[in-house]
Amino acid sequence: MIPKQTIDEIFQTARVEEVIGDFVHLKKSGSNFKAKSPFVDEKTPSFMVSPAKQIWKCFSSSKGGNVVSFLMEAEHFTYVEALKWLANKYNIEIKEDRERTPEEIAAYTVRENLSIINEFARDHFVYNLHNNEQGKAIGLSYFIERGFREDIINKFQLGYCLDESNGFTKQALDKNYKLEYLEKVGLTKTKEDRSFDFFRGRVMFPIHSVAGKVLGFGGRTLKSDKKIAKYFNSPESELYNKSKILYGLYFAKTSIIKYDRCFLVEGYTDVISMHQAGVENVVASSGTALTEDQIKLIKRYSNNITILYDGDAAGIKASFRGIDMILAQGMNVKVVLFPDGEDPDSYAKKSTTSELEAYIEDNSKDFIVFKSDVLLEGAGNDPIKKAELINDIVASIAVIEDAIKRQIYCRECSSIFGIDEQTIIQAVNKVRANKTTSRYKSKNTSTQTSSSSQTQTQVQTGNNNIPIEYDIPIEAMIPDEYKEQAQTATKGTDRISSQEHDLIRILLNYGLFMIKTEHVEEDEEGNEEVSEVEVSVIELILHELEKDGINFENPIYETIHQLFREGVEKGEMYGEKFFLQHQDPDISSKAVDIVSNRYEISPKWIEKKVYTTTELEKLELAVKQSIYSYKTARLRNEKDAIKKEIDRLNEMQDEESIEEIRVLMARQIKLDKVIGLLTNNDSLGRVIH
Ligand code: CTP
Ligand code: MN
Repeated sequence: MIPKQTIDEIFQTARVEEVIGDFVHLKKSGSNFKAKSPFVDEKTPSFMVSPAKQIWKCFSSSKGGNVVSFLMEAEHFTYVEALKWLANKYNIEIKEDRERTPEEIAAYTVRENLSIINEFARDHFVYNLHNNEQGKAIGLSYFIERGFREDIINKFQLGYCLDESNGFTKQALDKNYKLEYLEKVGLTKTKEDRSFDFFRGRVMFPIHSVAGKVLGFGGRTLKSDKKIAKYFNSPESELYNKSKILYGLYFAKTSIIKYDRCFLVEGYTDVISMHQAGVENVVASSGTALTEDQIKLIKRYSNNITILYDGDAAGIKASFRGIDMILAQGMNVKVVLFPDGEDPDSYAKKSTTSELEAYIEDNSKDFIVFKSDVLLEGAGNDPIKKAELINDIVASIAVIEDAIKRQIYCRECSSIFGIDEQTIIQAVNKVRANKTTSRYKSKNTSTQTSSSSQTQTQVQTGNNNIPIEYDIPIEAMIPDEYKEQAQTATKGTDRISSQEHDLIRILLNYGLFMIKTEHVEEDEEGNEEVSEVEVSVIELILHELEKDGINFENPIYETIHQLFREGVEKGEMYGEKFFLQHQDPDISSKAVDIVSNRYEISPKWIEKKVYTTTELEKLELAVKQSIYSYKTARLRNEKDAIKKEIDRLNEMQDEESIEEIRVLMARQIKLDKVIGLLTNNDSLGRVIH
């Protein structure tokens, strides 16, 4: 937990325009800034940042929010990760509420120290490349000869480690960095009490974390001696874990989100050259076989991977290995092979952006087509080889968890090979049956309920991002405790509290939706003029509550209610994001709680056994029903209180009490009338059959 004080400080310090400026190029536009949306590929900028309001809005995707929500969108950070990122940017120290264990502190300190050393080393190597005679003559001229542009060399923070025994180590020790740590990150090697620079005479490629920290280095030799390893890489350490790192991801992630696709290449230079050619959604597995962790890293940003490998045998083999792993993660995979002797680096170098994009576009093959093309070439007309090849593809399809996707691929496979679709489906199912027996067994013995893992099919409506559920009976979605609550919450404060919850739930989930309602206006002669108006759900609910001077009894619901009111007074209508990311953790957690249970329906409807799969369709009725039930409950409570008070006054028998009773009884009659009106409302009567 980050302490509230620190959260305040972060919110007060962080400037939305500064943070977003790190991600996109902001152009001044009146009192606002404008940019091309980082979330959508667009020609005309629709992305606005308001320094005055400290908010951003993307009109193409209709996303918007504050500085924290931007980081959550752009970086796929959690709330806490976003706060931590900001704290780091603005040098705000986070003192955790919880005391950390000595082990945690030690591990954290080691990582911090290693990362500080790496950043010192990066700066040192960059300095050498641009300022040292040897660095310029050997390192910089190598990059320039390879055709790397100056801006790209700077962007990727490329550097040079001098070809001297220990120039770097000496400087680092002078700066009081510990030898132990220098060795740990692999920058220094010690032999018989003599320390020397591990990467000497190599050009340096810093390897960044998702957040831009330097985790390690790749150092390329400039000698063509085959006996010397082309690359040295940082050793595994607390900081550097190569199976969890993708080279270039830090520079690629916004582009991956934007294009909803990630290109996967093999090497450092492939990434850099593609960037230089204007294609930035590219990462490298850096010579290691692709790992599950690396695929999951990509999955945070996009579900679509295109593998770009050399067309040689090794490249093809590597892509085959990658395909099934990517499919098993539920992701989509395409493959582009480059002509023999070319890799993305060499191809990008001789192409313009559009030529490179066109090559990738024209040569992208779905994994089935790719596998069958490659394998068919080897199989020729040999029927046995052909059968093997089909089984190979069937095995890949069987890895896919999504049934609909599987079926589509079975169809594709059937049409490519001219084999009956049913035959392929059966073959796939057979592979899956063999594989899944053990899995089902372990599932049955597990104590976890399966309901939490059940996936819901959702379709997105318009730009409001409200999922409508279908195919799944809504009853299945109502949490058990809620059903109980609805049954027991028939009286008093329980009932009120659950109805307040219901109104807040509607405000958060559907607040910005427009609904029709009747507007009655009286002219001077007292004639009623009824007109139909369209108002937002927020406006309608606030209006109805205000009309009767009602505030919520439950303090947290009342706080949220007041926030909606303050917003409307300022001319802003808050969506769920405002509350989800509200810096008051009570409010944000309550909002998260309510929004994540989007499928709750009114307790009233549960009581009456009305289940609808589309509350949204009946939004107008749902909103009015909710308001009127709540008001009725509040009025009934007031009636109960009045009754008690009358009983008490009756015992007094004095003049004043009798007068008081008369007033209360008048109020009672009024209440009865209003309750009658509310419950017998014709249009509402139709809601519940
Ligand atoms: N690699 C490595 N160690 C080696 C060779 C390669 O770690 N001895 C990794 C590097 O991450 C390298 C990637 O494998 O970037 C791909 O190798 P390769 O294609 O040989 O290198 P390139 O990056 O293409 O380098 P260059 O174009 O300069 O030859
Ligand atoms: Mn290469």
